[in-house]
Amino acid sequence: MFQEDTLKDRHILVTGGGSGLGLAMATYFHQLGAHVALCGRRPQPLQDAADAMGERAVAIPCDVRDPEQVKAMFDELTRRWGVVDGLVNNAAGNFLSASEDLSPNAFNAVVDIVLKGTFHCTLEFGQRIIAAGTPSSNVINIVTTYTETGSSFVLPSACAKAGVLAMTNSLAVEWSTYGIRLNAIAPGPFPTEGAWSRLMPDPSIEESYKRGIPLGRYGKPEELAQCAAFLMSPMASYIQGGCITIDGGERLMAGQFNRFVQWMPRPMIKQAFEAMKPRK
Ligand code: HXC
Ligand code: NAP
Repeated sequence: MFQEDTLKDRHILVTGGGSGLGLAMATYFHQLGAHVALCGRRPQPLQDAADAMGERAVAIPCDVRDPEQVKAMFDELTRRWGVVDGLVNNAAGNFLSASEDLSPNAFNAVVDIVLKGTFHCTLEFGQRIIAAGTPSSNVINIVTTYTETGSSFVLPSACAKAGVLAMTNSLAVEWSTYGIRLNAIAPGPFPTEGAWSRLMPDPSIEESYKRGIPLGRYGKPEELAQCAAFLMSPMASYIQGGCITIDGGERLMAGQFNRFVQWMPRPMIKQAFEAMKPRK
């Protein structure tokens, strides 16, 4: 499905591109021929990642919370490339906390990165695309599966990601006029250093969490990168305002009887059902 030139001539900015899922997406876009820019607050991981990719990769330290820094980043990329025609809003912050213990500043710390940072980058991207009349541009916003359901203990992230999904859907209609596509990806659990160090308290929880995923395993960063490459490419040219969930089926576990498979092996389940059949 993907060729070496699938994303040739594309110029794509990945926020939070120096680590985890952002790095996996940027690396794959680059392998498919794109020019990629990686942004984040820490310069060293960005530079190391861009050096490892080689030509067509650039590291730009930028804090997405600050609209001035975001504008300067887009100025620099426009100077280098002429246009930025792909944006992945992936930068995020998150931590576990009982909501009653959150301070206003703790709430802001996450919302400022996830919701406002996404707005700053999307606005700067869209204004330039609209002014230049660039065809075939698109935005991918990385959300979560709890965007839909909410979640205990990650209230700032749940609120911010729900806002990002609302932004995706709103602009998917409003900016269709300009040919800009906006879509979202909702990952389930992927064991990156950034996420696991903040969200996975200990290995026993990690094991029992895994048993609640129908496919019985965590996601691999390259699986997410392939999904993003598809959305970024012309193969997805009629997908507008979509949200692709990539979670091994985890979000569907609310179905009341799904948990049987966690409680006992299949032969025992069948035996139990057999025993419950009415006797003639
Ligand atoms: C409670 C906390 C806290 C914690 C920080 N704060 N960590 N409160 N529990 N664990 C509070 C502080 O006390 C402070 O409030 C306020 O938040 C700001 O703290 P800073 O340390 O100054 O924030 P900052 O340096 O801006 O760092 C932002 C951050 C940090 C979000 C707190 O974790 C970060 O930089 N994260 C970036 C990477 C990341 O989070 N990656 C994971 C993404 S995974 P006071 O009131 O004391 O001043 C993801 C997965 C989702 O999103 C789905 C998984 C299935
Ligand atoms: P990660 O490695 O911690 O990624 C977060 C990135 O955001 C880091 O590179 C970080 O770099 C950058 N960042 C944070 N604040 C920033 C700011 N103010 N300005 C610019 N960059 C900033 O974690 P990850 O697991 O790969 O997460 C990537 C995305 O996937 C996030 O949107 C996350 O919510 C989403 N997601 C992850 C999972 C999962 O299980 N891993 C599940 C669902 C959704 P600096 O610290 O250097 O700035």
